[in-house]
Amino acid sequence: MQGVAEILSTKTFYPENIVSLLKASADEEHLIFRKSAEIKEKYVQNKVYFRGLIEFSNLCRKNCNYCGIRRENMKLLRYTLSDEEILTAVRFAYENHYGSVVLQSGELRGRGFINRVSRLLKKINRVSDGKLRVTLSCGEQTYETYRKWYESGAARYLLRIETSNPQLYASIHPNDQLHSFHTRLKCLESLKKAGYQVGTGVMIGLPGQTYEDMANDLLFIKQIDADMVGMGPYIEHKDTPMYNLKDTLYNRKERLRISLRMIALLRIMMKDINIAATTALKAIDPFGREKAIMAGANVIMPNITPAKYREYYLLYEDKPCLDEAAIDCLQCLQMRISTTGHYIAFDEWGDSAHYVRRCNDNKYPIP
Ligand code: 5AD
Ligand code: SF4
Ligand code: FES
Repeated sequence: MQGVAEILSTKTFYPENIVSLLKASADEEHLIFRKSAEIKEKYVQNKVYFRGLIEFSNLCRKNCNYCGIRRENMKLLRYTLSDEEILTAVRFAYENHYGSVVLQSGELRGRGFINRVSRLLKKINRVSDGKLRVTLSCGEQTYETYRKWYESGAARYLLRIETSNPQLYASIHPNDQLHSFHTRLKCLESLKKAGYQVGTGVMIGLPGQTYEDMANDLLFIKQIDADMVGMGPYIEHKDTPMYNLKDTLYNRKERLRISLRMIALLRIMMKDINIAATTALKAIDPFGREKAIMAGANVIMPNITPAKYREYYLLYEDKPCLDEAAIDCLQCLQMRISTTGHYIAFDEWGDSAHYVRRCNDNKYPIP
């Protein structure tokens, strides 16, 4: 079997090599992190981009078995922010020099919702003088909807594949048409075709997920040529069907360890993409996001949703920053990022360098 140093010196990673790196002993771990840090500095510099996250509605038509805001969770108060609440959050981001905002919600498909998002995108553009990049994360939609939102001003879209193993995907979702792996793949294709910078990602440490699955997740992300990635640990939520599998999970420390390795390996495999230090990492370790930045991540999504709504967007337990106002998170993050030897790229859009390159290469001509 090849050692860590030998695998890292090869150009192409195969599933079995990735599994070896994911399983490598703690003694050899520094070799992986050293390589990912070198690549990060060379291709994306020691910068961290901020994306102000606005969780604008927790209404969702889906019923994913792992998610706290699934349709059948009746214990949850459902909310939707008004346009003015959303625009206030946008103004906060703009005035505090965040280069971009993310509008996230559960998945809704009605005409009213689709038109509202379009209208909001135009309003956001107006209040920020077109100086903010807007990302959407509103689930599976038709190509026409994706295109309509793109034309209304959204430049990026986040849609995680959750796991690249279709059997595992089926086991963590209800068995119906609404939760189809095939549809998720088609949506990722539509997003690319519609012109977006496309972000995807997976959950790490799902019940029944193997190291081989995780290695294939990284290869999947590379194969679809994602521009942005958000991957984080799966965290149980007591009001979901998957909670009864909690005793079969890797412990939280182990999920953190694997997540950091996944981030480092992805940085090595896809040098110039944007990788988020996800909030779920902070839920399992107070310094989880800082550790992710050191491992290769270059994006943080400070929550700028009005504080009174945050407890209702609990996808998983122990979600941090429930009581903090946007300004608290800003100050907290400034201090935390300074400890990592990185700096915050205020006033920059922070488009994925990968996206810029693929446009220049004309690989996916912008429609
Ligand atoms: N643990 C971790 N991540 C979760 N998500 C949803 N539920 C959980 C959970 N219990 C993630 C999914 C989804 C994103 C919006 O949140 O990956 O795509
Ligand atoms: Fe809805 Fe997304 Fe949660 Fe699934 S993961 S229930 S689509 S919010
Ligand atoms: Fe919200 Fe630290 S990032 S309080």
